[in-house]
Amino acid sequence: MDCFVITGGNRLRGQVTIKGSKNAALPIMAASILTEGETVLKGVPELADVEHLSFILEKLGVAVMRDEQRNIRLKVEDEMNCLAEYELVRKMRASVCVMGPLLAKRRYARVSLPGGCNIGDRPIGLHLQGMEALGGETELVSGDIHVKAKRLKGAEIFMGGPFGSTVLGTANVMMAACLAEGTTVIESAACEPEVVDLADYLNACGAGITGHGTPRITIEGVKSLHGCEYTVIPDRIESGTFMVAAAITNGDVKLANCRLDHLLAVVDRLRAIGVNVERDGDGAQISSSRHLEPVSVTTQPYPGFPTDLQAQFMALLSLAGGNSIVTEKIFPDRFVHVAELNRMGARLRKEGPTVIVEGVKQLVGAPVMASDLRASAALVMAGLCAKGQTKIARVYHIDRGYEHIEERLTALGADIKRLPE
Ligand code: EPU
Repeated sequence: MDCFVITGGNRLRGQVTIKGSKNAALPIMAASILTEGETVLKGVPELADVEHLSFILEKLGVAVMRDEQRNIRLKVEDEMNCLAEYELVRKMRASVCVMGPLLAKRRYARVSLPGGCNIGDRPIGLHLQGMEALGGETELVSGDIHVKAKRLKGAEIFMGGPFGSTVLGTANVMMAACLAEGTTVIESAACEPEVVDLADYLNACGAGITGHGTPRITIEGVKSLHGCEYTVIPDRIESGTFMVAAAITNGDVKLANCRLDHLLAVVDRLRAIGVNVERDGDGAQISSSRHLEPVSVTTQPYPGFPTDLQAQFMALLSLAGGNSIVTEKIFPDRFVHVAELNRMGARLRKEGPTVIVEGVKQLVGAPVMASDLRASAALVMAGLCAKGQTKIARVYHIDRGYEHIEERLTALGADIKRLPE
């Protein structure tokens, strides 16, 4: 296992190019199960999660390869195996998004029920409700969900849950409905750009999806889908993380390949904190003069503030001149970073799904532990500005979602090294 050793205090300057979106690429790769012919995906980041899904897809009979241009090529070669087993699903919850495509194309899926993870319980009841509404029969056997259907039929499906709509649930049902007979309407659908990207990919393969990006998605079922060439959207969470990195180091950084229109709530909060964010061609320029105002941040479904940037913002707000309030409305237990940031001198007090952030003048380096992807990113942010050295153990968590982050931060002037633990 590797660790990062960061010596804080360097201002970040220069340009970084944002990679393609992990959370768009994963369901799109899974959707290739639905298609005949080859899919060529451009801009898929080189991440542990992408490799892991490639491995699962290969077991499901999809040939997956990175070509010389670093595109991912996917082609279904064998439809016999419909099982995504526990050992594979356990390592990456997003594996559950093979369920919809398997059910629609092969009429059967056996997918291990993913357990909880460090950010909470993470149920999939809404995914199953959607499959059942389309005519799937579901059964839980020894921790695996078996879903089967002789034929799928379009239906009206409500996807809202106690914490809003579900992103991968919407993706799963939308994928299954593409090959169902007739019309499916998903109400209270997730509006996240990653869902829109999946719908755009499916339409490029011949699907009949409209309304994506709104809470009502309509899908006219078609007989078959073909392959296509498709470029995934830039990763808005990686963009937001580099924005925080620039802000927390009092830096001046240009983000290329950054969709500011996917980051309106984030830009709104950054500007309220006092960070300058300017549109610049296909990207954005971020600079900060380090007087940070305290603000309230509440995570919400898109277009609200994303839960996947809550931890990184908490690191930034630790240095604001007053008390900030951070409330988590998507995953109320997503706070594993709080105790670690406190080890670095932050003053964070958790009260239910809210953290009161009392701003301090300076964070101080310390040995800390990464225990979830975005929490690890928050520790890196804190390490970049802390006095002295920060050692972050178990950085495999960060490798799941950020491609070579240490090299890209080094190119911007950070002092960060990857070492074997
Ligand atoms: N929920 C239910 N029932 C369900 C499904 C979800 O109650 O059947 C609840 C969840 O417990 C949560 C809320 O609904 O409270 C939203 O969860 P959602 O299903 O939208 O999460 P997800 O689709 O499993 C994706 C991202 C997450 C991101 C969330 C929220 C991928 C691969 N994962 O997860 O990304 O936090 O949406 O935006 O797209 C990350 O990248 O670090 C990450 C965790």
